[in-house]
Amino acid sequence: MAEKKFPSGFLWGAATASYQVEGGIENTDWAQAARDGKVPPCGSACEHYTRFENDFDIAKSLGHNFHRFSVEWARIEPEEGRFDEREVEHYRNVLRALRVRGLEPSVTMWHFTLPLWFSETGGFERSDSPKIFARYCAYVAGKLGDQCTHFTTINEPMVYAGKGFWEGLWPPFRENILRHLHVVSALAAAHRAAYKAMKKVRPEIQVGVTKHNIFFESNSNPFNIVLHVFIDWFWNHRFLQLIYGHQDFIGLNHYHHKKFGTTPRERAAAVRSDMGWELHPASLYHSLIALKRYGLPVYVSENGLADAVDSRRTEFIKNAVRSVHRAISEGVPVKGYCYWSLLDNYEWASGYGPRFGLVEIDYATQERRIRKSAYVYKQICERNALLD
Ligand code: FCB
Repeated sequence: MAEKKFPSGFLWGAATASYQVEGGIENTDWAQAARDGKVPPCGSACEHYTRFENDFDIAKSLGHNFHRFSVEWARIEPEEGRFDEREVEHYRNVLRALRVRGLEPSVTMWHFTLPLWFSETGGFERSDSPKIFARYCAYVAGKLGDQCTHFTTINEPMVYAGKGFWEGLWPPFRENILRHLHVVSALAAAHRAAYKAMKKVRPEIQVGVTKHNIFFESNSNPFNIVLHVFIDWFWNHRFLQLIYGHQDFIGLNHYHHKKFGTTPRERAAAVRSDMGWELHPASLYHSLIALKRYGLPVYVSENGLADAVDSRRTEFIKNAVRSVHRAISEGVPVKGYCYWSLLDNYEWASGYGPRFGLVEIDYATQERRIRKSAYVYKQICERNALLD
């Protein structure tokens, strides 16, 4: 058996997002969409808002030394321009709870859900949205920046704009490509403004985005080659180019592989998660290599699968770790890996069906049960290596 050793100080952990795990958040566009019957209700989720210390005990017991989570904008700024100190104190307690357990925190400012006052007045279609977002981010960086050095502004801008303004499946349920393009530009402007405002308040912190990138490839058909090159640029690189010079690292959220021109045999042979997403063993490697050109540190900020019976998660994690190791050995400065997710949680329009967690949640009792694959990941985290 060979040992795939990682650089010392490599960060290993898992990610969550506030709306998906905390519970009790009613003043967002998603909560409103649930009241309107357009998406499943979120309700009390994993009650992580009150159970976070217990959940971090579990993360620590699983060998993690890194944890990515998001703060809920609607809690911190419940009305336009009014900030709630008690909620800030809550997140300071969350950060302290991570620190005392030796878990390095990474904070995401905005993970899909918007405060109602903002969504109802136009959200990122408002002409002053970059200013509003930057004010919120600077406020949070000022309040939390002594406890945390690693911040991301926006989670998956292309997914937010794609689902909400192109496919019309998520709030605000628009299907308009022009609006989609406008919102992508507004998000880039919002990130740039937030980056500058945060660095002004706390020059010492590291600020980036988490970018959902897909491994695209094609067969040898010239049409498919052109299509693949264009889509690869449009989905994976355009936003990163729009924010060029305004990021200290790149957060990579990776889930998908798409080949233009697959054969029926390839489609039939693909191994899939419970979401029907193809599990390509080396797609994370290819997505990491594609980020080398930016010359920035990279964190795998999300990577995981829905697998209720936990039959594919162990192999998935091992493949991911192999991918990261290979990318590092080829010169990509990957600094950490976050499995998605620590806990089963609210999977947006798919509700509570999909099970992404290292830890299973019984939603009736809030009981936590650690899945077997989490122990395999634990060995990797503790050894800082994969025995392969
Ligand atoms: C990502 C989202 C995250 C989660 C996973 C499965 O795109 O950032 O909240 O839903 O997908």
